[in-house]
Amino acid sequence: MNTPYPPDFLWGASTAAHQVEGNNVNSDWWVFEHQPGVPIAEPSGDACDSYHRYREDIALLAQLGLNAYRFSIEWARIEPAPGEFSRASIDHYRRMCETCAEFSIQPLITFQHISLPAWVGEHGGWLWDETPERFANYVRVVAEALQNHLIYVVTINEPDLTANVGYRFGTFPGAHVGEGPGEVAAAKATEMLRRAHRLSRQAIRDAAPQAKVGLSLAMQEWGVQPGYESTLAEIQRQWEGDFFSITKGDDFVGVQAYTRIVAGPVSEQLPEGFAELIPLFNMYSPGTRRTVMGYEFRPQAIGAAIRRASEQTGLPIVVTENGVPTDDDRERVEYLDGALASLHDCLTDGLDVRGYFHWSLLDNFEWHQGYRMHFGLVEVDHTTFARKPKPSAMHYGQFVRDIGTSPAKVVIP
Ligand code: BGC
Repeated sequence: MNTPYPPDFLWGASTAAHQVEGNNVNSDWWVFEHQPGVPIAEPSGDACDSYHRYREDIALLAQLGLNAYRFSIEWARIEPAPGEFSRASIDHYRRMCETCAEFSIQPLITFQHISLPAWVGEHGGWLWDETPERFANYVRVVAEALQNHLIYVVTINEPDLTANVGYRFGTFPGAHVGEGPGEVAAAKATEMLRRAHRLSRQAIRDAAPQAKVGLSLAMQEWGVQPGYESTLAEIQRQWEGDFFSITKGDDFVGVQAYTRIVAGPVSEQLPEGFAELIPLFNMYSPGTRRTVMGYEFRPQAIGAAIRRASEQTGLPIVVTENGVPTDDDRERVEYLDGALASLHDCLTDGLDVRGYFHWSLLDNFEWHQGYRMHFGLVEVDHTTFARKPKPSAMHYGQFVRDIGTSPAKVVIP
């Protein structure tokens, strides 16, 4: 089959520790979830029990015909108290990497995906002056232990969303310490995230010189209704502002996109539960097809985000997340087909895209929305933890097998 995909293209699915592992009791999110009155549908609890069932998850990826797995390492488990490192937890993640190698699955590891240790959260998370150095120190300890397993590495997941939504609107726990959420908190978090990325990138390069290091950005396709160009420019400034430049000196950029934001008049009432994003999701024209999260159903958004990231950073790209929340798996198949078509067009146009990771492998804990949102290729019974691949998983696997992608080149150091 004639395809534009390089033979070592990474075809995978993504998860994040707090959303799938279960009982992440030393994290700031666990504490947040148990505070009275927080707008979180339910606590994360056992999640998908992937802390114990990771082998099954990795085997599933291989059975589907995929060759890569993006997962995150949980700082709260590695360093449950300041300066106290858990060797057993580091070994756990080393075993995950070894299991990936056994199944010819290439790991793409993220060092921080939204949650932080509770003791960092108590100081305001990304508002604390010491967080960047302490984060880089944790990264150094883990990178020295995992070494050759580090191939593509994301230091921080979506620092742009963390600052712009988490700390501006107060949806992340750390934002509630000190003066509280707002512009000042968003600016401070941005500064800390930038420093943390730079320091941790160096720590990874020192320990694992072969690793390709980057971060992942929460991107969108942008649209504008006539006359609203300055609104669009303002939204873009706020969202993208300092975040493309943060990637300078990186080896790649992780692109994550789910939807399109269209600058225009406020025209529709927002679906309940998305108050923090009101200005963005309230501007669609009446009748726009929306997902259950309130944003537009827009499969081709990923292609637009790839093009923008490439033009703004000049770096190779890995799609580290892309997917759709839906209870109707036929919609996921439709979304996948549209997204993969736009990815194909990017490669045909010569853009340097190295991989595509669907969000998510499993139906998991969707932060404020709890378990109500279904992003997974695989259904999880949250009482027995049984995994059941959905037709969309088979569909995606068949697409990848038809391309004839290579099994990942993986090492056990
Ligand atoms: C985050 C994930 C989240 C996904 C779907 C991304 O912003 O990195 O943790 O589950 O979007 O909402």
